[in-house]
Amino acid sequence: MTQSLNQIAKALVAPGKGILAADESTGTITKRLKSINVESTETNRQAYRNLLFTAPHMGEYISGVILYDETIRQNGLNGKAFTEILKSQGVIPGIKVDKGTIALPGSADEKITEGLDGLHTRLEEYKKLGAQFAKWRAVITIKGNESPSDYCLKTNAHALARYAALCQDVGIVPIVEPEVLMDGDHSIDVCESVTLRTLHIVFNELYNQRVQLDGMLLKPNMVISALNCKKQAPTKEIAERSLACYNRTVPSAVPGLVFLSGGQSENQATANLNEMNLLPAALRPWELSFSYGRALQQSTLAAWQGKESQVKFAQEVFAHRCRLNSAARYGKYHPDLEKEMPK
Ligand code: 13P
Repeated sequence: MTQSLNQIAKALVAPGKGILAADESTGTITKRLKSINVESTETNRQAYRNLLFTAPHMGEYISGVILYDETIRQNGLNGKAFTEILKSQGVIPGIKVDKGTIALPGSADEKITEGLDGLHTRLEEYKKLGAQFAKWRAVITIKGNESPSDYCLKTNAHALARYAALCQDVGIVPIVEPEVLMDGDHSIDVCESVTLRTLHIVFNELYNQRVQLDGMLLKPNMVISALNCKKQAPTKEIAERSLACYNRTVPSAVPGLVFLSGGQSENQATANLNEMNLLPAALRPWELSFSYGRALQQSTLAAWQGKESQVKFAQEVFAHRCRLNSAARYGKYHPDLEKEMPK
């Protein structure tokens, strides 16, 4: 029986579960592998993704995995398609469908995401390959008083809504990701005002383009100080200001918010999610979950080091990180739990 968009979206934010973003483009995964001195060959990328997707117990904490074009067509080391391996773990396969960013014409520092041409046909193919949800990331840069411009916000929101409408047309749940970057030295106040502007414009476009809000998920940045800001806002302030921002912009019909980690450390990303889930339920009309890339993979990559002999250990490290984020969905994470990390 075909599941409705709403049923798939709800399954992706089921209690205690979140999404693994393993959709790094070839360029990005090459950087990640380089950080552990592993060459980015197709075989090494397959070995790494195989490590993640076959990790024992991952299905207890992970509802869905976002794949990349190469990976959705690839088999695991046992010869079965990665999509089948994920399904056997009870995990829903998803796919990144944007084609990355290029410079926004007429703007010095801003970006626009590409990939709308032929998207309907690509989505139909991805659906046949097993994808039930998709991701499209828009990148919003904060720089001085100029960026982001309304031009950048509007063109990116228009593309996000076009993508979301196309996904829903073929029965795929769109994850709408307008990422306000943490790069720079701006304060949490600036992040808050830019995130507010961004989300207002995004939801306006989603409405204009008739996107069904209960059949999508939002992947937002947290309201947070920039990486190089001297005054780093504490966890409680991040949680309170983030929720205040989403309450002013995100309709409660959206089943869930699945956060990106965006350069936060693993512990920070987990602690911030935990703190949000500790705030009064009346402030959380949506499920608050994760769709982390780096914050689920950093210590796993470091544990693996590209060595066959380290696979089992790296899988334990990965499962532990998943477990901690699962705890954060219930507000049950505590920094002491970090000590249980396999060594
Ligand atoms: P990070 O959690 O590493 O920011 O990645 C999430 C993601 O999917 C960005 O598009």
